[in-house]
Amino acid sequence: MARETIFSTDASAVVFGPGATTEVGPRIKALGCERVMLVTDPRLADLPPVATATSSLQDARVDYEVFDRVRVEPTDASWKEAIAAATEGGYDGFVSVGGGSTMDTAKVANLYSTYPADFMAYVYPPLGEGRQAPGPLKPHIAIPTTAGTGSETTGNAVFDLPSAHAKTAIANRVLRPNVGLIDPDNTRTMPSLVAACSGLDVLSHALESYTAVPFDQREAAADPLKRTVYQGANPISDIWAARAIEFCAQYLVRAVQDPADDEARANMLLASTVAGIGFGNAGVHLPHAMSYPISGLARGFHPDGYPDDHAIVPHGMSVILTAPAIFRWIACANPERHLHAAALLGVDTSQAKPEDAGDLLAGALVEMMKAVGMPNGLNGVGITEGDMPILVEGTMPQTRITSLSPRPVTPDDYRVLFMESMTIW
Ligand SMILES: [Fe+2]
Repeated sequence: MARETIFSTDASAVVFGPGATTEVGPRIKALGCERVMLVTDPRLADLPPVATATSSLQDARVDYEVFDRVRVEPTDASWKEAIAAATEGGYDGFVSVGGGSTMDTAKVANLYSTYPADFMAYVYPPLGEGRQAPGPLKPHIAIPTTAGTGSETTGNAVFDLPSAHAKTAIANRVLRPNVGLIDPDNTRTMPSLVAACSGLDVLSHALESYTAVPFDQREAAADPLKRTVYQGANPISDIWAARAIEFCAQYLVRAVQDPADDEARANMLLASTVAGIGFGNAGVHLPHAMSYPISGLARGFHPDGYPDDHAIVPHGMSVILTAPAIFRWIACANPERHLHAAALLGVDTSQAKPEDAGDLLAGALVEMMKAVGMPNGLNGVGITEGDMPILVEGTMPQTRITSLSPRPVTPDDYRVLFMESMTIW
């Protein structure tokens, strides 16, 4: 196998600061748009972030229509509804106001309405064909209202495919929004548990991209234009990931425990973007891969602060529930990095030996999970040992990200890691 020698870094333009949402009108107009689809979810549709965005569009004389039927944790069905609306509307640009589900829905509405194709055409293999978009998309400005996914900076869009009991993704550089407007005023509407789950998602993005297999240990891309966006750890992503871990250590618990702590909330929103630039150019691995069947198994779990029309294991929660077991298990592949990550989280590693790395990092994660009110393992969200076949089979197709694990992983390993995550403490 020829080893990769090249990595690349892409990022959206980032505009950060209280009130940044008021700039969406002039900025989308400057991108040449006159009639845009504003994508949001039903809960946000009547809240200030959407009102601020629409009045900015009006002031800039940009026509818009609001699509407010985004599903939190979208499915192929909810995406098809958005794609149909985008196709029918004939828009020349997109504005998304919401969490990762909303930004991702706008990305795919843009993709399929610009370059129509069979739905599975752009979906990542092996479930889909993994086709590349034939050219650039229409302009998209993303305005996040939760501090989690970093979706405003990435070329990924993630969805549930109930027929395969799995989450999967469309990953394509052209999906990356042109601009991310990061406005701390918009996270005022974020319930406390949403802040906890999205903050832990940020932390996991940073830890996973920092510990992913290095880009130069992977196979060289045959075609430079098809080099995957999930390249593996690389020197530029490392900078963003390490800084995001420090932000989380400093602000995550504060932001959850005191919703009025503006400094903590603003910095977690910034951390989300910082981690997004890191993992958007490196990738995530086992906690995300194993989270997909967990969220697919949501039954009767209705956490506070989330829409109660369907059972849901929030993305960040489903990611973090297996993270302690995973980091404990993979740390031997690169103990120095895991120790450094633990140190960035505030652990005293001065006397630590390489073999302590996994326990130290997992211990720091568990402390943080307890402090922000996470359930104690998969049992806490209604998942039991009887679900093991679905958990393991739902993880297997996620080869795009499981291949970034620093330690090679087998179905038996997944079984052990899920088992250890049933009850964590
Ligand atoms: Fe995530």
